[in-house]
Amino acid sequence: MTLKDKLQELHSSRGCLLATNFYNFETLAGIIASASLLQQPIILQVTKASIDYLSLPMVVGMAKAAFAGHEAGGWLHLDHAESYDLIARCLDAGFDSVMIDYSEQPFDENVAMTTKIVKLAEQYNANVEAELGYVAKLGQSKEKLGFTEPEEAKRFVSETGVHALAVAIGSAHGFYKATPKLDLERLSAIKEATQIPLVLHGGSGIPANTLRESIRRGICKINLATEIKDTFMRNLHRLLAENNEIDLRKVFPPAIQAVSALVKEKLGTVSRN
Ligand code: 13P
Ligand code: ZN
Ligand code: NA
Repeated sequence: MTLKDKLQELHSSRGCLLATNFYNFETLAGIIASASLLQQPIILQVTKASIDYLSLPMVVGMAKAAFAGHEAGGWLHLDHAESYDLIARCLDAGFDSVMIDYSEQPFDENVAMTTKIVKLAEQYNANVEAELGYVAKLGQSKEKLGFTEPEEAKRFVSETGVHALAVAIGSAHGFYKATPKLDLERLSAIKEATQIPLVLHGGSGIPANTLRESIRRGICKINLATEIKDTFMRNLHRLLAENNEIDLRKVFPPAIQAVSALVKEKLGTVSRN
């Protein structure tokens, strides 16, 4: 099943997929182990920075290999892309889905670029996600939030034909200083106005009950990145401080396990609705 179709199905059933960013073999191994254990489909996603780090063939090869041993299946998604060329290269390389992030551009430019990507993706039967409103990036001020306006979202969706829409409702990338309060009324209004699968960015640091409520109100994809990096690196620091082992194959597994435990918990949250 294509991700486009799967998200449509989840839009109707008020279900949700977890979309986890991976960075290296170890984080990928931790993620896929839990998805397999729970027999849940999952979205594996990478940003340009991870593609620069791993190389495009490596990203595609790793994801393919991970899915080969995972019966519930999954999809490879390009997260937060700002360039047409990168998106075209990823679609050619076999990505199932791409995000065009023109959320910091004026509305009309966001519409124009997203429309272009939707046309391109049609040739691949690939899913396209766009963002309207503004979810603060890592390191950017969370005060600079531009919430998604339901009526504007409706116009955006009908003008672009985009398949899934990332919404700005008070979440932000990275951890939060205080427990985030999502504008759930706004979320419901956006769902009502657009009638398409909605995406929640900034999943790290959002409490499980808030994630569940957002799914009930129409979120069909929840993005999780920072907690994966943080869990892996904090555990790795501890393991390295504790021993002088140079066989990395003996050092990494507990950190992989920790990522796995995190993803298991999040998959539980996302599926239990
Ligand atoms: P977090 O880093 O807050 O989990 O956000 C992830 C994300 O939105 C990736 O696109
Ligand atoms: Zn994001
Ligand atoms: Na976050």
